[in-house]
Amino acid sequence: MTIGPTDHKLDRLVHLLVRNATVVVPGPKIASEIGVSRSTVWEWIEKLRELGVAIKGHPRHGYQLEKLPDILAPSLVRAELPNAEIGHKVIHYFRTDSTNSAALELGEQAAPHGTVVIAEEQTAGRGRLGRKWYSEKSSGIYASIVLRPPLAPATAPVLTLMAGVAAQNAVRAATGLSGDIRWPNDLLINGKKVCGILTEMRAEVDRLHMVVLGIGINVNQSSMPDELREIATSLALEGGRHYSRLHVLAELLRDIERYYHMLLNEGSAAIVREWSAASSYAEGKRVRVKASRDDYSAVTSGLDASGALKVCRDDGRQELLVAGEITELK
Ligand code: BTN
Repeated sequence: MTIGPTDHKLDRLVHLLVRNATVVVPGPKIASEIGVSRSTVWEWIEKLRELGVAIKGHPRHGYQLEKLPDILAPSLVRAELPNAEIGHKVIHYFRTDSTNSAALELGEQAAPHGTVVIAEEQTAGRGRLGRKWYSEKSSGIYASIVLRPPLAPATAPVLTLMAGVAAQNAVRAATGLSGDIRWPNDLLINGKKVCGILTEMRAEVDRLHMVVLGIGINVNQSSMPDELREIATSLALEGGRHYSRLHVLAELLRDIERYYHMLLNEGSAAIVREWSAASSYAEGKRVRVKASRDDYSAVTSGLDASGALKVCRDDGRQELLVAGEITELK
């Protein structure tokens, strides 16, 4: 079931509890500060508890947070990103089908550049190449960013590469874990995928109207479903500890903003350079290539200026990949 975006008053409730984290806040005070009835406060507290937010109820006295919640509430995300362009407007869902679908729809209704759509859970998370994205409730980051770049549609692949580099940096800064980037932008840790990026856009021949960067990061999953276990992992499984999703998301949005400005100021070559330095797949990697009508083994030989991957087939033929998938051949 898809439900609407989180009520901004519920967001204020989370913020109020976080601001008063060490004290008991009386129910009537909460109700009057955010302008809802006491029974609504009670209902919302129950909803937050269902999401794993530890809130202690003190009979006749009020409510108290037991520990800071790892919920990606807009007010908490914005508080991490003062003066940010990306993340100045955050739309949060407890559950939606796909944040990319929501962001595309909001973008078509004129949502500004930098709007970020987040969900605690997706019921129809989409991956590249028509795949599903496993979106367990409150364990991962499911975020889509509306960008309105003053660039030609041909630059879109570089935006995708940029997001991969930003994700690698953000994960390193937030967790200390170093990931590799598999073209175009899968983030791998110890050879398994922790983060995937789906770029969708609306464009005319010569003008990009909007790009939606959809990013999924497996953060605190304590195990992966059987069918993914061999190829996917989470930051918690690799780092052996729980991480704050809020912290990882804030790093990610800051890095995307930084690299986005690098792209605008220095051009695609700067991003191609960053990506090439960040990925062991850039050059000299033996890979299996799955393109639309072809499946072959090859060795990678760098990116071209547009972000396409150059590969050399075993029979010596050179190919330029603009889409498709590669996997390492050992
Ligand atoms: C991939 O590696 O195949 C891309 C996965 C992208 C998943 C994210 S989760 C947030 C956003 N919403 C979606 O439906 N997909 C992207």
